[in-house]
Amino acid sequence: MGEKHMRKITMNVEDCEPGMQIAETVFNEYGAIIVSEGTLLDNHILRKLDNLGILKIKISDQSENEIISNSAEAFKAQYNENIEVFKDVLHDISTGKNIDLKKVNNVSDSVFVWINENRDIVSCIGQIRDVDEYTYTHSMNVSLLCMLLGKWMKMDAAKIKMMVQAGLLHDIGKSRIPPEILNKPGTLSNEEFEEIKKHPVYGYRILEKMPEISKEICMGVLMHHEREDGSGYPTGARGEQINEIAKIIAVADIYDAMTSNRVYRERESPFEVFEKMENKTFGLLDPKVINAFLNNIASYYIGDIVKLNTGEIGEIVYINPRHVSQPLVKVGNKYLDLTLERGVRINELI
Ligand SMILES: [Fe+2]
Repeated sequence: MGEKHMRKITMNVEDCEPGMQIAETVFNEYGAIIVSEGTLLDNHILRKLDNLGILKIKISDQSENEIISNSAEAFKAQYNENIEVFKDVLHDISTGKNIDLKKVNNVSDSVFVWINENRDIVSCIGQIRDVDEYTYTHSMNVSLLCMLLGKWMKMDAAKIKMMVQAGLLHDIGKSRIPPEILNKPGTLSNEEFEEIKKHPVYGYRILEKMPEISKEICMGVLMHHEREDGSGYPTGARGEQINEIAKIIAVADIYDAMTSNRVYRERESPFEVFEKMENKTFGLLDPKVINAFLNNIASYYIGDIVKLNTGEIGEIVYINPRHVSQPLVKVGNKYLDLTLERGVRINELI
């Protein structure tokens, strides 16, 4: 997909269809990115371009044997299927069998196919899920987020594939933790928490025996709960001592946990999650990774229509990379800079 020598064609937005690939990044009048090069068009993006009055865009000329299965439904179906396959993998380990590497590779290959899909990944991850399915769904989500992070951090394809696999396997050690502790509702005792904290080591031990899994992935799994200030586990490693894969998994892991942890919340806007990511993880996560993540993920919301807590409806026109949770919103003919408007927040996306 999206190979180097692709020809570009200019097309009227009204003639474009979901699945076509954007050949040149589209900016709004404020210089903010609306859709990046390489993105596959979907109905949401098409509606957005239309709303913003953009008439023509550049599309990659795809040859016939390159038909991309692109719809949100196709993504969702593949996503659910992958979760089922990965469930089997974890089940095998919990019954003492070895990892079925073929299954793991099948899942990671099919994740990698979606590398140019952004919106569907982000919105699929944000959906409420079944508590019992948490570990499988979470592994799948972290894998997808690690892929996006790899892409946003400009890694090469081989490294991104490694990220996909590391994300998928990061919590594999949880299959060695008794389910009554793992799925316990309510607060854990100290002993139970100490047991849960062993999962990175269990995961490392499972993977290190497998010559097909690279040492970097093993280390990434071992260190994904370490934190920049040394407050993590299992060893309390800090900063430079933490492997890069582990730093990336940590960001994906925390974001997915934050978006899923809303059983008692009504609907939380992604901007509230960004705000928490900005504030609560300060000093704990690698700023390079967290910035790449927030800047890129937030840019999907440019051009979106939002409802503010004042009841006003507006359009997100610009997102400052330093304050992604407080964008510039156009309401009627006035502009509200949420970094300056104390107390004004985005309640929901419309
Ligand atoms: Fe974990």
